[in-house]
Amino acid sequence: MSKNNSGKTDNSGRISRRSFLAGGTGFTALAVLPLRGGAAAATVPHYRFVAAHGRTHLLGAENPDTAVWAYNGAVPGPGIRVRQGDRLRVAVENRLDEETTIHWHGLRVPNAMDGVPHLTQKPIAPGATFTYEFDVPDAGTYWYHPHQRGFEQVARGLYGPLIVEERNPIRVDRDLTWVLDDWRLTSDAQISKDFGNFHDMSHSGRVGNSLTINGRVAEPLAVRRGERVRLRLINAANARIFGLEFAGHRPTIVAYDGQPVDPHEAPNGRIVLGPAMRIDLVIDMTGRPGERFTVEDKFYKGLEYPVLDLVYGPAPLRDRPLQTSITLAPNTMPEPDLATAERHDVRFGGGMMGGMMTGMMGRRRVSMREMMHSGKAWTINGVAATGHVMDPLLTVKRGRTCVLALANDTAWPHPIHLHGHSFRVVSRNGKPTRRREWQDTVLMSPRERAEIAFVADNPGDWMFHCHIFEHQEGGMMGVIRIA
Ligand code: C2O
Ligand code: CU
Repeated sequence: MSKNNSGKTDNSGRISRRSFLAGGTGFTALAVLPLRGGAAAATVPHYRFVAAHGRTHLLGAENPDTAVWAYNGAVPGPGIRVRQGDRLRVAVENRLDEETTIHWHGLRVPNAMDGVPHLTQKPIAPGATFTYEFDVPDAGTYWYHPHQRGFEQVARGLYGPLIVEERNPIRVDRDLTWVLDDWRLTSDAQISKDFGNFHDMSHSGRVGNSLTINGRVAEPLAVRRGERVRLRLINAANARIFGLEFAGHRPTIVAYDGQPVDPHEAPNGRIVLGPAMRIDLVIDMTGRPGERFTVEDKFYKGLEYPVLDLVYGPAPLRDRPLQTSITLAPNTMPEPDLATAERHDVRFGGGMMGGMMTGMMGRRRVSMREMMHSGKAWTINGVAATGHVMDPLLTVKRGRTCVLALANDTAWPHPIHLHGHSFRVVSRNGKPTRRREWQDTVLMSPRERAEIAFVADNPGDWMFHCHIFEHQEGGMMGVIRIA
């Protein structure tokens, strides 16, 4: 147990504030509890995670359990819930047989807290503990996962949701989070061990065969007519892209990747989420008592499948949907200044059917054949990454607006993620986007072009990579230096 773990841990990993305080300062501490931003001990939500081997019933209690790697024995790991402006502290103890780290996906943390092995920290050795601590500037839906061998560690169950509550939340009746994952399970319900195989790496990544929501096969969701639900979707899958359709309902998108957007319905009613992406929906339950509707994933043509059913209970909550606003207050990112921006081209290459001829590995130009022999299949600006430490792809002056013109030169979709910042997606295929949405992960279709813009206000070396973990491992990863 580490020194700063003086409080009691409940099974959610959260160290109860009350016992933490009572241990230190007795009754008087209770009086300072409501004060935020005052005495540090009273305001730092404090979690303790143990990463270790465990077992869980992914397929429900009546089926065999599955050996997983988990935080505090649970998949997903403990749900972190803090308020915007809080300082968060998480002590991570590694009881795995290999090194690990945690990356706080989408949160604009200081570089040293970003959880990238060797680049921003020494990986956490087996038996060691590392404490992450940082301020949480923005509200929204985020998640956390290792950045060490993500293609295996995340696929084995190491990930969890991180919700930052708004100071003035919108009014809803229920606030639900669905962490979506697809597992590649064998017939005895165990995780297939073919992690990082070259076929997955050079094609679509590790697409699984068993869907879970919050670590369990989905069960019907009981709803009531008139109810307003905020549904936070998090795609924790290695490679699967989801395209959810809510039959009979008109979900409204209110945030992408945690960042507020003008509330709008998805084109054709399909909610598309690439790996690592999040979407917050507001859904008014407009069905009638006793009705049943199926949510389906229709992303892959010919491979549609039902996700779960919404089942209306007998008693309506109210007759008319709420009329209150569902527009979220903006977060705190500085506005990019396109007129004075630095512009850089970033091209993504490689993969099967991509026409990749050569690439750089380290500082050496090699043939595709040699690259494949070294287990690499993808490039950024012609370079296949061989680890997290590398020469920067580009260097941006701190404080400048940076526009990246992204080009997907491959035959595959890629969710491209930037650490330490959120960016506006300002154009796609040369056309300005309608909502200039803030995101931290932009899903690019095969051959698509996109421009993203952000103020490079967070100094350090930041990963910029495809979030299909097999593509990242296969070389589609770079570093953007802000200095
Ligand atoms: Cu969600 Cu570089 O990661
Ligand atoms: Cu990719």
